[in-house]
Amino acid sequence: MKEILSPLHVGQMNLPSNEAFRAAFEGIFARRHYANHGPLEQHLDKALAEHFQVRHAISVVNGTVALILLLKALDIQGEVITPAFTFSATAQSLLWAGLKPVFCDVNVESQMLTAAGVTKAITPATVAILGVHIWGRACDPIALEELAAERGLKLIFDAAHATSCTFAGRRIGGFGDAEIFSFHATKVLNGAEGGCITTNNDALAARLRVMRSFHDGTGDPSGLLRMNAKMSEAQAAMTLLGLDAIDGFIAENRARYERYRKNLAHIPGIRFLHHEGYGENNYQYVVSQIDAQAFGLTCDALSNALQARNVLVRRYFSPGLHKSPPFSEERWNLPVTDDLCRSLLQFPSGQVINLEDVDAVCSLVRSLQAGTL
Ligand SMILES: Cc1ncc(COP(=O)(O)O)c(C=O)c1O
Repeated sequence: MKEILSPLHVGQMNLPSNEAFRAAFEGIFARRHYANHGPLEQHLDKALAEHFQVRHAISVVNGTVALILLLKALDIQGEVITPAFTFSATAQSLLWAGLKPVFCDVNVESQMLTAAGVTKAITPATVAILGVHIWGRACDPIALEELAAERGLKLIFDAAHATSCTFAGRRIGGFGDAEIFSFHATKVLNGAEGGCITTNNDALAARLRVMRSFHDGTGDPSGLLRMNAKMSEAQAAMTLLGLDAIDGFIAENRARYERYRKNLAHIPGIRFLHHEGYGENNYQYVVSQIDAQAFGLTCDALSNALQARNVLVRRYFSPGLHKSPPFSEERWNLPVTDDLCRSLLQFPSGQVINLEDVDAVCSLVRSLQAGTL
C-alpha cells in the first residue's frame, strides 16, 4: 500500500494559472487603483450577477460579512429559524446583527431545513428563516418561499457552499429575498477571501451597495448604517479568474468524488453522500457517512486513524452549533443533527489531490475496515 508522505487536506485551494494571475495583478499595479470600487470590482459585480442569474450581485470582503450586512439591511428584530448543522458563521452572524438564532432540526436525508420542520419552530417572535444549502444541495427553496410568503417572514439562504449549483434548472442565488456566497480559499470559487450577496430585489440591492462602503460614490443622504465591507481589486481579480476557470474546477472535483465513491462502493458501513435530486452540484465537498456497527470503527476512530497517517479528514460539523458556545443550551433537542454530527466525515479533495492520492486514501480506508493495518 502506498504510504501517504505529506498531509492531504480537505478543501484545497483552486488557483488560476500563474500567467493569468500575474497579468491581472500587473494591471492593478499599472492603474494604481487598489480599492474603493475599482474597475475589477465593478466588472465582478456584473459577472457574478450573470453567473448566479440574478438582477444584482454585491461583492463583499467575505461570506460572514455578507450575512451580517444582509441581515442589517433587512432591518429586522427578533428570532430567526436556522439549522445547527452548519458552519458557525451562519449563526454567529445572527448574533452580530442583534438577532436570536432558533435552531431547527434538519431532515435525515437532505441534512437541511424543510418547510414542515420550520413551520413547527415558528413563534410570534419569528421574523425570518435562514436556510443553508449544505454541501451545495438546495435547501427546499420553493416550499420555504411559499411558507415565508404565507407567514410574512423574510427568507434568506447561506449559499456559502453552493456556487454554481442549481435547483430545478435555476442557479442557486435567486431564491428567497437574498442569498450569500463565500469565496474563501476552501470554496470552489477562491477569491483569497471574498463573498457576495445576490438578490432580485432592486431596493434591497441599493441599500446593500450603500451599506457595504464609506466610498460608494452615491452620496446617499439616507443615513444608512455603513461599514467597510467592500472587496479590494486584488480579491476581485482572483475571483474573476476563478469564475473563468470554475467549470474546470468542478469537472476535476467530480472526478475525485466519483473515484472515492467507486473505490469504496462495496465496503460495508461507509457511504458517500450523493446529490441526485438536489440539482447540479459543484462536488467541492466529499462527505461520507459512517455506520459504526457495519464499518467496525466509529467515525471518531476512523478519523483519528486516518489523521495519524496524513489523511486530514474533517468531522463536519462536530459538535453541532447547539452544543457549542455561545449557542449551547439544554433546550435544543435536535436528534437528527446529533446523529449527523456523530457520523459524517469529509475527505480530502481539491486541486492538489490527484486520483492516485484518492486511491491511496481509499486503500487505507479498506485496510482499516478489514483490520489489516
Ligand atoms: C456554511 C458557511 N457559511 C458561512 C461561511 C462564512 O464564509 P467566509 O469564510 O467567507 O466568511 C462559511 C465558510 O466556510 C460556511 O461554510
